[in-house]
Amino acid sequence: MSIISKYNRFSYVYDMMELPIEIIWYRKWRKELFSGLSGRILEVGVGTGKNIKYYPKDCDVVGVDISDRMLARAKKQSTGATNSSLMLMDAENLAFKNNSFDHVITTFVLCSIPLPVPALEEMNRVCKLEGTVINLEHMRSKNRIIAFFEDLFNPFTTALTGVNINRETVKNIKKSGLRVIEEKNIAMLDVFRRTISKPPQ
Ligand SMILES: C[S@@+](CC[C@H](N)C(=O)[O-])C[C@H]1O[C@@H](n2cnc3c(N)ncnc32)[C@H](O)[C@@H]1O
Repeated sequence: MSIISKYNRFSYVYDMMELPIEIIWYRKWRKELFSGLSGRILEVGVGTGKNIKYYPKDCDVVGVDISDRMLARAKKQSTGATNSSLMLMDAENLAFKNNSFDHVITTFVLCSIPLPVPALEEMNRVCKLEGTVINLEHMRSKNRIIAFFEDLFNPFTTALTGVNINRETVKNIKKSGLRVIEEKNIAMLDVFRRTISKPPQ
């Protein structure tokens, strides 16, 4: 089943399924991630639009997603919120000019995009030279025991939800040509991390 079909199906239960982790962790992380941002922002894999309410009022946000049903939910969430527009688009082929965004954001997306490196290359391309690409993601741990379990369960999570729990996301960011300027462990040792990267000068 394609990633579009998976997320179209998933869209009906996504917010409900994520509610416990949203309350325990994600809400707080989302708030922290967006405070202090300004300018023109691209959010890739905007999903049901959970981040939209956390953008400061002076941000001009464009959210894209490959699933029309996830986007339909995001449209409901974004009514009356920040300056935002939502578009159906594949992260691997972004329809924006080079150097057009001050910040490019993903939250929990690089685990499900089928080809993360081409998608990150696109984020690199559309980010202004002085801008940042900010990724809040879960990934393969450097701890061998955690990584063993991530590798063990990955075939099941991928088959059921399209989510890869063992991607080497920091390596993928570097492969795309972006320069990682900050890498912060957020939770479960280093499974959840926030990275800030910049396009090459
Ligand atoms: C786990 S959800 C995360 C949604 C949201 N960012 C959040 O924090 O709740 C992953 C999202 O990435 C989207 N996605 C997966 N592959 C994509 C692609 N190639 N292009 C754009 N969006 C994609 C899915 O449709 C889904 O909405």
